[in-house]
Amino acid sequence: MSGRLTIRQLLKKAEQGGKLTMLTAYDYPTAQLVDEAGIDMILVGDSLGMVVLGYEDTLPVTMDDMVRHTQAVVRGAKKAFIVADLPFLSYQTSIEEAVKNGGRLLKEGGAQAVKLEGGLSMVPTIQRLVDSGIPVMGHIGLTPQAVNQLGGFAIQGRQAQDAKRIIEEAKAIEKAGAFSIVLEGIPWQLAKLVTENLTIPTVGIGAGPNCSGQVLVLHDTLGLFDRFTPKFVKQYANLREVIGKALAQYRQDVESGSFPTLEHSFAMKEEQLQLLGGMQDEDPQDSR
Ligand code: KIV
Repeated sequence: MSGRLTIRQLLKKAEQGGKLTMLTAYDYPTAQLVDEAGIDMILVGDSLGMVVLGYEDTLPVTMDDMVRHTQAVVRGAKKAFIVADLPFLSYQTSIEEAVKNGGRLLKEGGAQAVKLEGGLSMVPTIQRLVDSGIPVMGHIGLTPQAVNQLGGFAIQGRQAQDAKRIIEEAKAIEKAGAFSIVLEGIPWQLAKLVTENLTIPTVGIGAGPNCSGQVLVLHDTLGLFDRFTPKFVKQYANLREVIGKALAQYRQDVESGSFPTLEHSFAMKEEQLQLLGGMQDEDPQDSR
């Protein structure tokens, strides 16, 4: 029996008024760190494409990318509940594809649940995934896989009509069987309303303080991503600066000869050194 948190335990924490904590991770060492910090859930997000693989957006991320990185995270984290993102066009094309790919993230990747983006059109897909034994986390509001349709990473639901649609989407996703929903990039009042209208927990990112939990992209949190920092990010460390200084020191040490020293080197025993000296004196022709 694994020591991982379960959906039941997460729901119980939220029911009792505890805030759910979630961060992304994409590899073994960061998964270990997030897990050791006692974070409830790790999201192997398709933000992988931007913060690790260097793409402009999340669209190029493949199922193979997601499976490989989920495996590494699962090896690193022993306690956290692990959710893996279904990447762009791995679930929108048909329900069968969604089940096949969702299944891969659990069977091959080792995740406990999948996350997918979208509203009402995703309801039948969520139902089938859940019926197949694949727990689903929904994701509405600013959905990065729809960046081209949304015309950028813009805040959603500012107009009453759009806000109403988002509330309806959240209710339908809950009814379809999702165990939780990410609310991204929506006004805090709307996130509060959505949360109050659901029985399953909401996990906010750029959605204010009234969600049942919070998720952030690890590289934003640690100051490792320099292209842009959204307003909703709180940076807890500037690791680019720390790592940059360490690497500059390494270059300086190697160039100046102050690293490596004998302290970082291996020695040969004296008698072996003498033997080696003798061997060097031998004429290679004689040893034939
Ligand atoms: O991919 C991701 O990191 C996400 C979060 C922004 C919620 O979906």
